[in-house]
Amino acid sequence: MASNLDIGIDLGTASVVIYGKGKGVVLNEPAVVAYTRDSRNVIAIGEEAHRMIGRTPSSVVAMRPLQTGMVPDLELAITMLRYFVRKAVPKRLIGGPKVLISVPNGVNEMERHSLMTSLFEAGARRTQMIERPIAAAIGAGLPIGEAYGEMICDIGGGVTEIAVISQGRLIVRESIKVAGDQFDDAIIRYLRRKHNLLIGELTAEDLKINIGSVLPRSEQFYMEVTGRNLITNLPKVMRITSDEITEALDEPLQQLLEAIHDVLEHTPAELVADIVESGITLTGGGALLGGLSDAVAKSLMMPCTLAENPQECVAIGCGLTLENWSEYSRFLSDRRRR
Ligand SMILES: Nc1ncnc2c1ncn2[C@@H]1O[C@H](COP(=O)(O)OP(=O)(O)O)[C@@H](O)[C@H]1O
Ligand SMILES: [Mg+2]
Repeated sequence: MASNLDIGIDLGTASVVIYGKGKGVVLNEPAVVAYTRDSRNVIAIGEEAHRMIGRTPSSVVAMRPLQTGMVPDLELAITMLRYFVRKAVPKRLIGGPKVLISVPNGVNEMERHSLMTSLFEAGARRTQMIERPIAAAIGAGLPIGEAYGEMICDIGGGVTEIAVISQGRLIVRESIKVAGDQFDDAIIRYLRRKHNLLIGELTAEDLKINIGSVLPRSEQFYMEVTGRNLITNLPKVMRITSDEITEALDEPLQQLLEAIHDVLEHTPAELVADIVESGITLTGGGALLGGLSDAVAKSLMMPCTLAENPQECVAIGCGLTLENWSEYSRFLSDRRRR
């Protein structure tokens, strides 16, 4: 039997998630490529490349091809995409699967076209794009086909997309470069300022995931981290508290809240009334940050819910669309293919 696994792909700024039709999520890896600086030989992709961030010799670069939601290096993005597709669908795609892919909003038409062409070359029979907020909303289980306003806020690594959807259409949409990475950066800046301690990106992310919360926790948590004392230039171990992380996260939190507020301001009144009633839905890995849905609800004075499996919602939305093609494919036409 020909291998004919139709797949949905979430090509994100921090991770790539692939959903196999009828199977569920079959791949979820960091969107990282490591290559040699001189000859640009790719030496690792995914998990393995991720461990190299901040740990490579100067001859090796470990980077995320879509980090800021744009594509600074199309060739690397294509190499990574094809690698993951081959890994998720081990046999060659000769059977001709259908591929539904979602990319960050900042990816331009030319780059979208090149990414889709590369999927054809990998053997895909048909490739279509789905707008990220639409996929996220479907993956979160929102009934987007109705004449009713739903607000989705997908918080990824480099980009947050905020959108209002009604009757399967994007009514208002905004993307901002305040997402998981900016929360990590805020932690790095805070510890440098307060303790003269320089920590790496992966350590900052660990602090955020393990003890971070945007609202003060009822119980204080601690984590020991090793960084560099910027006065002595020597390694230094410090115990960081969750309250400190809360303080560090305040600036990007306020920016995020402001952006959501902004989108609501540009939303027609009837739809705002719907959203006040049904609430804002958070998706994306960044939405897992402690206290975030409560902080959004409190600040905007409306319900806010964290979707189930938020980090996989976009891929699940792509997969559900493939599985319910006759019902959901009408949501695909927002951006014409050229
Ligand atoms: N438990 C967690 N708490 C806080 N942030 C998290 C958690 N798990 C993942 N993240 C963050 O989610 C972000 C990645 O989200 P993801 O949806 O995979 O990104 P993208 O869609 O842009 O590829 C990263 O910044 C990561 O640190
Ligand atoms: Mg995501």
